Amino acid sequence: MAFDIDMIKNVYANMADRVDAAREITGKPLTLAEKILYSHLWDGKPNKAFTRGKDYVDFAPDRIACQDATAQMALLQFMQAGKAKVAVPTTVHCDHLIQAKEGAAKDLKHANNTSSEVFNFLESVSNKYGIGFWKPGAGIIHQVVLENYAFPGGMMIGTDSHTVNAGGLGMVAIGVGGADAVDVMAGMAWELKFPKLIGVKLTGKLSGWTAPKDVILKVAEILTVKGGTGAIVEYFGPGATSMSCTGKGTICNMGAEIGATTSTFGYDESMERYLRATDRSDVADAANEVKEYLTADAEVYANPEQYFDQVIEINLSELGPLLNGPFTPDLSTAVGKEMTEKAKANDWPMQVEWGLIGSCTNSSYEDLSRASSIAQQALDKGLKTKAEFGINPGSEQVRYTADRDGILGIFEKLDAKIFTNACGPCIGQWARYSDPKNAPKNSIVHSFNRNFAKRADGNPNTHAFVASPELTAAIAIAGRLDFNPMTDKLINENGEEVMLDEPTGWELPPKGFEVKENGYLAPKEDGSDVVVTVNDDSERLQLLTPFEPLGDSITGAKLLIKAFGKCTTDHISMAGPWLRFRGHLDNIANNTLIGAVNAFNKKTNFVKNQLTGEYDAVPATQRAYKKAGIKTVVIGDHNYGEGSSREHAAMQPRHLGVAAVIVKSFARIHETNLKKQGMLGLTFANEADYDLIQEDDTFNFVDLNEFAPEKPLTIEVVHADGSKDMIKVNHTYNEAQIAWYKEGSALNLIKKQNA
Ligand code: F3S
Repeated sequence: MAFDIDMIKNVYANMADRVDAAREITGKPLTLAEKILYSHLWDGKPNKAFTRGKDYVDFAPDRIACQDATAQMALLQFMQAGKAKVAVPTTVHCDHLIQAKEGAAKDLKHANNTSSEVFNFLESVSNKYGIGFWKPGAGIIHQVVLENYAFPGGMMIGTDSHTVNAGGLGMVAIGVGGADAVDVMAGMAWELKFPKLIGVKLTGKLSGWTAPKDVILKVAEILTVKGGTGAIVEYFGPGATSMSCTGKGTICNMGAEIGATTSTFGYDESMERYLRATDRSDVADAANEVKEYLTADAEVYANPEQYFDQVIEINLSELGPLLNGPFTPDLSTAVGKEMTEKAKANDWPMQVEWGLIGSCTNSSYEDLSRASSIAQQALDKGLKTKAEFGINPGSEQVRYTADRDGILGIFEKLDAKIFTNACGPCIGQWARYSDPKNAPKNSIVHSFNRNFAKRADGNPNTHAFVASPELTAAIAIAGRLDFNPMTDKLINENGEEVMLDEPTGWELPPKGFEVKENGYLAPKEDGSDVVVTVNDDSERLQLLTPFEPLGDSITGAKLLIKAFGKCTTDHISMAGPWLRFRGHLDNIANNTLIGAVNAFNKKTNFVKNQLTGEYDAVPATQRAYKKAGIKTVVIGDHNYGEGSSREHAAMQPRHLGVAAVIVKSFARIHETNLKKQGMLGLTFANEADYDLIQEDDTFNFVDLNEFAPEKPLTIEVVHADGSKDMIKVNHTYNEAQIAWYKEGSALNLIKKQNA
């Protein structure tokens, strides 16, 4: 049911041949990432060496996973491709659309009531097209994938940026937009720029309060949110092999926060233990047969500087527990004195109101067991927890087993809310306030991966700090941001001073995993008679109509917004309450760029309509331009579109009539998504030209009729006073991507080729 051992054996059967060929062609020993990439080429056996960071390469991924929010648009697109079945094993996971409010039982019931139309749609499309379906409550996509589908040496793509989590089991797993997933579902190659390689050598051993989470929090500090862009991060060294498989998953998971294409670890005993514990001894046996191909060649790890583009070394024995945040995951602070000083200097609220444990990042059995060892001490030592606890188990299998073993019971004794096995607070689905916009300034600590403003609870004043589950538990008990569990005492209910001992836990459940109903529905063998219906008056779902090509002559385009500073996919297409419209393009387009800061007035969702001179919301202004038949341009800063893989952030502007997005630099997935939707994603050849753009500007694309790979384009920018600037913009479109642009979208091209 859960995985296809024959497919895995087939991957392994090809591996030796392909890796050996790649070694010969490149004339050097290979990293693990290279072995996986070269053994998954669309054309089979490698016959040329690729240049990292430059060559676009066609790959053949082994699997696809989609979560409910992104699956809606992906499947709506796939339905347009004219295929009877998905070409590659695919699963859909219902985890994003479940609110966290009162606890699992009530919240799940509520989600099933309010989102049944969407869940039913996903279930019936899955049934029709041969896709495995994981029901609401079955778990968070990446935990379920790690437990059931990930395998060492495999390649998968997923319509969620934390697909990278599967690197914990030695995969190259990459988050993509729905449009990319649709290509692969339709039997086409998946294209990726051959990534650069960053090696992270882990020496020493984790101990005491330090957890795998601290490794990635440290890496985020070193590399920042941009440092991994375009690269695969490969972890190795004694520190790597001494860590659990799910701990490796945590590290790979948050590789998304440094912009990395993905992260991975070589196959080792921790992975074998995890495979066997999750009922996949046949995968472990098969992997053991090809072990040497599932890790880098020895010479690579002996002299990493020669084989990676960048090498970082971290001594785990010297690493201490960290708190990253607020508002960005790369702002790292050591617990204790450093946090005390920083919090005071920055006026971060010292009192912590919630400790949240879970999300796809840290919701394994090991995570819950280690955090519960801290929670148990609160009970044993007579401590009253100062902050509230919220727990999201990663899967029904983890929840059932943790419940059986008394782990959840410990948290329940502390009045913790056990939320559904779903994303909940991690994606703004936390009904914490009735009026989040006007909610008070406060601090929370969580074991999630993202902590952008409003991400958890919609409150811009919530200061969210990211930490390991065990540190999150300790800080929730103490209720203070400046608490250092290694040195600080707490006062218990008897007025006595007590300290928390170091966390303990189990890598894997001593009595094995157990689950009664895992929430999986296998599709029909032949789904041709399954009827998928979408009501015309639905506000949640809307069948798609193809985009018209933008053409080779764009003149008179108006500036819609010049975005200032960070502009993530959350700013472009906000999550939270808008998640409900993920399957309805016109409705969700009403959130387009409402979180982006207008560079001219530093306000959000307040831009000038050049036709009236009035200021209005971004979507309303854009709809006015569309009505007048005027195309528009969006200007952005660095790493525009960082964050998630949602193609809505490209489809919405496209649907509303934005023709081009011109920025200082792009996040990879978003840039590809713009290309897929047949838009222009361009970068300033001279970054300083960003400053030339004024509020009343009009854009004339001078040489779009000569659109060609590696040839910059020229744009005439006409200012309100009639003066003009000629600017050069670069692009990364290859021939195939230019064909998408010319057809109006990649999907239009697929359809044409299928016709
Ligand atoms: Fe869900 Fe948050 Fe992970 S939204 S998939 S738990 S990053």
